[in-house]
Amino acid sequence: MLELKNITKVCGANVLANDDVSISVRKGTIHAIVGENGAGKSTIMKIAYGFYNADSGEIFFNGNRVAIKTPQDAIALGIGMVHQHFMLVDNMTVAENIILGAETGSPISLDLDKANRDIKALSEELRLNIDPTALIEDLSVGQQQRVELLKALYRNAELLILDEPTAVLSPQEVDEFFGILRRMKDQGKTIIIITHKLDEVLAISDDVTVMRSGKVVGNVKTADTNAKELAKMIVGREVLLRVEKPDAHPGEPVLEVNDLSVRGRHGHGVRGMSFTVRNSEIVGVAGIEGNGQTELIEALAGLVPIDGGSVRFEGRDITNIGARRTKELGIAHVPEDRHKRGLLLRSNLAENAILGVHHRPPISTSGGLLNENAINQRVTEIIDRFDVRPPNPETTAKSLSGGNQQKLIIGREFELNPKLLLVSQPTRGVDIGAIEFIHRKVIELRDAGSAVLLVSAELEEVTALADRLLVFREGKIVGEVGPKTTSVEEIGLMMTGS
Ligand SMILES: Nc1ncnc2c1ncn2[C@@H]1O[C@H](COP(=O)(O)OP(=O)(O)OP(=O)(O)O)[C@@H](O)[C@H]1O
Ligand SMILES: [Mg+2]
Repeated sequence: MLELKNITKVCGANVLANDDVSISVRKGTIHAIVGENGAGKSTIMKIAYGFYNADSGEIFFNGNRVAIKTPQDAIALGIGMVHQHFMLVDNMTVAENIILGAETGSPISLDLDKANRDIKALSEELRLNIDPTALIEDLSVGQQQRVELLKALYRNAELLILDEPTAVLSPQEVDEFFGILRRMKDQGKTIIIITHKLDEVLAISDDVTVMRSGKVVGNVKTADTNAKELAKMIVGREVLLRVEKPDAHPGEPVLEVNDLSVRGRHGHGVRGMSFTVRNSEIVGVAGIEGNGQTELIEALAGLVPIDGGSVRFEGRDITNIGARRTKELGIAHVPEDRHKRGLLLRSNLAENAILGVHHRPPISTSGGLLNENAINQRVTEIIDRFDVRPPNPETTAKSLSGGNQQKLIIGREFELNPKLLLVSQPTRGVDIGAIEFIHRKVIELRDAGSAVLLVSAELEEVTALADRLLVFREGKIVGEVGPKTTSVEEIGLMMTGS
């Protein structure tokens, strides 16, 4: 259905993002594309969608050579794409987003009533459970993603390109989502999916293409491969697919949360939670997304107001003191939504590296001026230690690949040597080599004395990293368990309340 032949693309000043890439996708199949952060996966797919134009190479669609210069060209051919980072307008409804086609700027139809009906029908057909009249800003990331899917389907896409669609979904949502993809495949649609999760590749795809450093390094049939072999092809070496950590030696309480409540945005919010995190321990949160995790972390980081109860840090009350003062006390925060909360996309790596500490020494002098040397030193350290690629402080955060953006945020927050680290979805969108690395860093921080509160939708990740596990349901803590002594099945049952 789609053949990309000998595509080469230089991005920015001199990054060879795609180097003679050829990929062939068979009609009616699900084709996975895997590879390290920065390997060129998003770039090659943006070329197929007309978002970028190749410097050289050819594209064939249904056997015909085509010129895809803009997304409109791709849409006209029946190609749809859901980007790694969504392109929805927050203060508009689902239907408005879909018919206005935010990225093409051309209104497809302005009959809102009809659109509402059509979108509702489409949503019901594939069991997407989306209300066309809902405002985007009121939807969870998982729901927003299904809106992106609806947007492509509404425009009659026959080939759907999905760039890391599951990165923002909980494991339960992934199962549902794969159900949707299989139904779409049964309807004859062709799907290209980029993902870092090998179990997903094995579960859903027919064919796999592996990319590394801008090139295709392998093509295999899914049925003929396994996770170990794929990992090796991706990274070019053996990867440890599990976490090894020494026992914790917790010290004094650092964070004491007492009967906390925080209003919910999508889900339940926080409804009366009490717990403690001590020095040198990792407390993990297990729970289905939308059960209070987001609100808890954002409230502790000072980003949203606390409605009831109190928070103490090293013995003093810090309830509602705000984000800046929270950070000044030595509390670092890796947010779940790296674009909204984590980065200034139009700013460069150096500017992003000092975000949150830009107003104090050594970054700022006592006279209020920025210290260029200190900034350079900080950004270089983060780039080196966290392997941010390309290693150029002048590049904009926007031009980094998704996984490299995440490494930049992780590096910035970890390098503060925080007394308390609030970390949400630390390895979302990160390749398997970098996951191994980030996990090691979290354990190093713990062993250097930090208190860590970790939220992850990946049950495997929290159980592997946490020393103690809090199980959340409907905004409450329904249990505290030892990850070593409790099975994943038991934790799953507590999460769902069954
Ligand atoms: N607009 C741009 N300007 C400059 N460089 C870019 C731009 N877009 C991509 N790049 C660079 O091209 C390379 C490939 O990026 P791409 O986003 O395709 O990687 P990826 O395989 O999708 O990675 P990830 O798994 O992290 O999403 C990276 O080095 C990236 O920094
Ligand atoms: Mg990408």
